[in-house]
Amino acid sequence: MGSHRDDATSDVVLSAHKFNRHTFWCGQSGSGKTYALGVVLEQLLLNTRLPLLILDPNADFTRLPETRDTTDPELAAAIAASDIQVLHSTRRDLPQLRARFTDLPLTAKAAVLQLDPIADADEYNVLLHADATLSGGAGDTPDQSTYISALRASDDPGHQRLAKRIENLQVLDWDLWARGEVAATDIIDERPQATVLDLGGFAHPAEPKVAALSALEHLWARREERRPVLIVIDEAHNICPPVATSAVEQALIDRVVQIAAEGRKFGLWLLLSTQRPTKIHPNVLSQCDNLCLMRMNAPRDLAELADTFGFVGEHMLAESPEFRQGEALFAGGFITTPTFTRMGGRITEEGGADVGVPLLA
Ligand SMILES: Nc1ncnc2c1ncn2[C@@H]1O[C@H](COP(=O)(O)OP(=O)(O)OP(=O)(O)O)[C@@H](O)[C@H]1O
Ligand SMILES: [Mg+2]
Repeated sequence: MGSHRDDATSDVVLSAHKFNRHTFWCGQSGSGKTYALGVVLEQLLLNTRLPLLILDPNADFTRLPETRDTTDPELAAAIAASDIQVLHSTRRDLPQLRARFTDLPLTAKAAVLQLDPIADADEYNVLLHADATLSGGAGDTPDQSTYISALRASDDPGHQRLAKRIENLQVLDWDLWARGEVAATDIIDERPQATVLDLGGFAHPAEPKVAALSALEHLWARREERRPVLIVIDEAHNICPPVATSAVEQALIDRVVQIAAEGRKFGLWLLLSTQRPTKIHPNVLSQCDNLCLMRMNAPRDLAELADTFGFVGEHMLAESPEFRQGEALFAGGFITTPTFTRMGGRITEEGGADVGVPLLA
């Protein structure tokens, strides 16, 4: 990962095989979480065959396949030989991040359409029976006009109401839908060494969440295959906050909480990065065994961490407000003893490095 904070000559090493637990990565904005996450992902790429699924809200990892000019040629060649699939939403000229509505489980479809099984009983029932119709010819979200007109042609009030709802929510306009093209889940099924889902470029606020939901639901539905994958979620407070503000968010929280509780034995391992421990769901936090703590100021947050990660001495956590950018405390199963670390340099390019203040010439 880098060197000991207080001894630049001594390397800090994480046990790759202990990523078969959940990992919590936290620190305040600018502490260097995303950069450090890149360092660990590069090392996992170079030293393991563990497939990585990276939910990337700010296009920070879209350049993971590109090495820096300063990178050792052997490492650069190893990265170049890795199968890294980047699915974009912030750029149009590259492979796009897509999802198939029809592949979502009923609860997720209902969440997208903001349907409640009791309050919206008629519409929910139409949805329940309409999966076949809804799939259209290509096994995908149908052409907007045909599906809406099929619903409208029916005398049934449930059909009429569902048609109106779909039109009003404008979900059929989302860029996210695959419409017969390759979906992210098709790529994830091939288990490339890394799949980056660039979530940041969608127009509708629910689209990135539904993209994440489609991937997580897909992995969960196939959990019995027991094919390992490390699910890396940067800015995890967007995906599993303590309280949902929408039905889609609730569906995401439910799924992440379940993966946190039961995913380990199926090879579904989480690595969650966020600024404060209280910003993610407590039932997810409590399942994390590995910790990377970067600079964090608030005593309340440190107390919360001390509660969750009882094996780290509070005196060690208490040093975190003094950390400089790029300094971290690693603790938990993946390191023999809690260790203050100065992160090593990246070998791949960052997608979204900080913007500098324009100064006088
Ligand atoms: N170890 C490091 N060496 C060199 N530059 C670094 C290091 N860590 C971070 N930086 C730089 O500092 C800036 C902020 O780092 P980063 O984006 O990783 O912060 P963050 O903790 O993820 O913040 P946020 O919570 O706002 O996403 C970036 O431009 C990054 O390139
Ligand atoms: Mg970040």
